[in-house]
Amino acid sequence: MTKFSLLGLGVLSLAFVSCQSSTNSSSSQDSTSHTGVDTSHSFAAEIDGKKIDLYTIKSQSGLSASFTNYGARLVSLNVPDKNGATVDVSLGFNTATEYNNPAEAYYGAIVGPFGNRIANGKFKLSGTEYTLPQNNNGHTLHGGLKGTHFQAWEGQQLNDSTIQFAYTLPDGNEGFPGNLDIKVTYGLRNTGLEIDYIATTDKETVVNLTNHAYFNLNGEGSGTILDHQLQILADKYTPVDGGLIPTGELAPVKGTPFDFTQPKTIGQDIGVENEQLTFGKGYDHNWALNGTKVDGLNHAATLMGDQSGIVMDIYTAEPGIQFYSGNFMAGKVTLKNGKKDDFRTGLCLETQHFPDSPNQPNFPSTVLKPGDTYKTKTIYSFSVKK
Ligand code: BGC
Repeated sequence: MTKFSLLGLGVLSLAFVSCQSSTNSSSSQDSTSHTGVDTSHSFAAEIDGKKIDLYTIKSQSGLSASFTNYGARLVSLNVPDKNGATVDVSLGFNTATEYNNPAEAYYGAIVGPFGNRIANGKFKLSGTEYTLPQNNNGHTLHGGLKGTHFQAWEGQQLNDSTIQFAYTLPDGNEGFPGNLDIKVTYGLRNTGLEIDYIATTDKETVVNLTNHAYFNLNGEGSGTILDHQLQILADKYTPVDGGLIPTGELAPVKGTPFDFTQPKTIGQDIGVENEQLTFGKGYDHNWALNGTKVDGLNHAATLMGDQSGIVMDIYTAEPGIQFYSGNFMAGKVTLKNGKKDDFRTGLCLETQHFPDSPNQPNFPSTVLKPGDTYKTKTIYSFSVKK
């Protein structure tokens, strides 16, 4: 894997230079020094009769990332910290088989066809009711038991900095209508990771794709995310019931622990007595983005690692973002660098349409019709604060 360090970096001015020295690289990735499919080590496996591989891409500025076609997952994302050391900010595993675990299903994955929850595993389209697996307290979570996260996608390296994954979910997969052709393209640009999503269907259906990376900007296995600073550019969020299904209301964040309009530490209000925080066991909610545009995308959030100084800005075409503070992480699995996935040592910021949209007429629509193209984009952009 490419090693690099950083010479002189100010906030929002990125100048990465290739040279030596690296921290936090996992042994499984050390065996490749080039981009492309890495067949030289133990990551590879066969799942559902299909070959699973690890792919590596790099930006010209020296960022690098690896992915697997099993769930089109982000496996590692290496960025420089304020001292120039390389930090892997994305949590994951060393082998494909460890990703094939229903108890820890979503690490780095593309979740679909419908990210987050659909109430009671039911929705109606043009008068037809569809029934889905109730894999989460009577509701459907992240596309059911075998959504896009547990499929072996086709991987195609487009160039040194770009990888594309394609998969067709067959009509009726986990109860969702339509053959859904999906293409997800990950591009490592000079400042960060861009994800482009495209999908088409041959029957009216619902689509809400997202990436479920767990981030720790101080590095995988470096303790909790509670001292990370977070800003979410949203004046409203969608409160939930005890099953984490939105009530349909768009509630103001002002005066609540959900107010991240100014940067604050995640830990600041997470322990406050609040029914919504009790329901989520912490933060596990969707924020309705204000729509603050940067180059045509919504500036969704800014996250900063308190030890590393690494700043991640998220820009998206989506109207919402799910902030999940790792409340169900339980130290049961071992991550790439040998540390456990302890409570709140990672967080997810999943750009999305709002949860349960198929049953919520006042939420932006997630319906995709034959002949139309689902197209969306999210950018995770990195800089450092000294
Ligand atoms: C959901 C959480 C869920 C987690 C699983 C999040 O997107 O909102 O409720 O536990 O994914 O990793």
